[in-house]
Amino acid sequence: MEAIVWDWAALGIRWLHVIAGIAWIGSSFYFIHLDLSLRQRPDLPTGAHGEAWQVHGGGFYNMVKYLVAPSRMPDKLTWFMWEAYTTWLSGMALMTIVYYWAASLYLIDGAVLALDPWAAIAISLGGLAAGWIVYDLLCRSPLGRNDTTLAAAGFVVLVGLAFAYSQIFSGRGAFMQMGALIGTMMVANVFLVIIPNQRKVAADLVAGRTPDPALGHAAKQRSLHNNYLTLPVIFVMIGNHTPLAFASRWSWLMLAIVLVVGAVIRHFFNQRHKGAPSPWWTWGVAAAGMLAVVWLSAQPATPAVDEAQESRVDLVMVGEIVESRCSVCHAAEPVWDGVTSAPKGVLLETPAQIHRQARAIGLQAVTTHAMPPGNITGLEAAERQVLATWIAAGAPAW
Ligand code: HEC
Repeated sequence: MEAIVWDWAALGIRWLHVIAGIAWIGSSFYFIHLDLSLRQRPDLPTGAHGEAWQVHGGGFYNMVKYLVAPSRMPDKLTWFMWEAYTTWLSGMALMTIVYYWAASLYLIDGAVLALDPWAAIAISLGGLAAGWIVYDLLCRSPLGRNDTTLAAAGFVVLVGLAFAYSQIFSGRGAFMQMGALIGTMMVANVFLVIIPNQRKVAADLVAGRTPDPALGHAAKQRSLHNNYLTLPVIFVMIGNHTPLAFASRWSWLMLAIVLVVGAVIRHFFNQRHKGAPSPWWTWGVAAAGMLAVVWLSAQPATPAVDEAQESRVDLVMVGEIVESRCSVCHAAEPVWDGVTSAPKGVLLETPAQIHRQARAIGLQAVTTHAMPPGNITGLEAAERQVLATWIAAGAPAW
């Protein structure tokens, strides 16, 4: 019963998380586009910086942006912040239910580092806080005065962390930790910099004081970062369902490439929405980057099989390995605590079932080390080699 409630709670929170994320990223894309498409006109109201005309849902909208206060502050001002906060809160709830509650399954891999669940959770949470502090200090440091230098420094820090986490957590855990870290940076930018600065500026304007331009500058810088991080963070959030992305030998390097790919794609749209010539080269970079990612993911985590080995497929052993290492969960009636039905409907109990899943087994347990999760049933390197030999020989039935 508990497992059923848990599973539905996870789905319910995931539902909320995705909806909040759509609302947040959607409004962020909308405002970036709006901001870039503003145009000057001689007879704009005093204090107006630019305007844009839009058509949607059967009506025309005339958007006018004021950098300083309009002559009269409106009674009602809509603030955009709960989309970001809800995304983070539901994300952390999901992280807790999926990764912290079942840390030994999803966060820890004994073959990487034999951590106690509480230690892994402490490292994960501490890492989120420390990551934000380092990033925030970088932005406020002299490096932060130049956007390009700051971006390069931020990139180095993120890639360094991705590598470090790959030496601490399971592939999946390390991947999600990076997603949570980038997401936390983005939401903290909204919560701790953009909104507070905006509030100070609004209060100054209402009181007739001149706001400190540094406030606006900092908020603008953080929103620029958020803009460039949206595509990579979404890649991580959905990539944690694709073992080739998270459980490969080079997952940390693949993430580094995706950070660049996501940024250049955003750059393309930013330029285009600004009315500048479209930088088509960005698609060449993105395509080359993604090809490199695919190639890296195909570098097997299990050593390759040579021809001499291929002829020695041991079908009995394949059956025994899958039965002992996999079918505790992948069975009509799983015996593993907390697993109520065969995960993803994958049954691995009879030779026929095992044969039918050969391709998936190769992907999950040979090319990548996604299964068993956290190598919790102790699948040994020699046993992976037996499975690799079987797959390389065309996965014969028995
Ligand atoms: C401790 C329980 C457990 C064990 C042991 C286990 N699995 Fe899994 N397996 C899961 C869970 C949970 C999922 C669903 C993963 C997810 O949500 O992404 C899964 C998913 C899968 C999938 C489907 C993946 C997909 O996305 O369609 C395959 C194939 C698979 N496992 C193969 C194996 C093989 C092969 C072994 C043994 C080497 C194994 N599993 C051992 C729990 C287990």
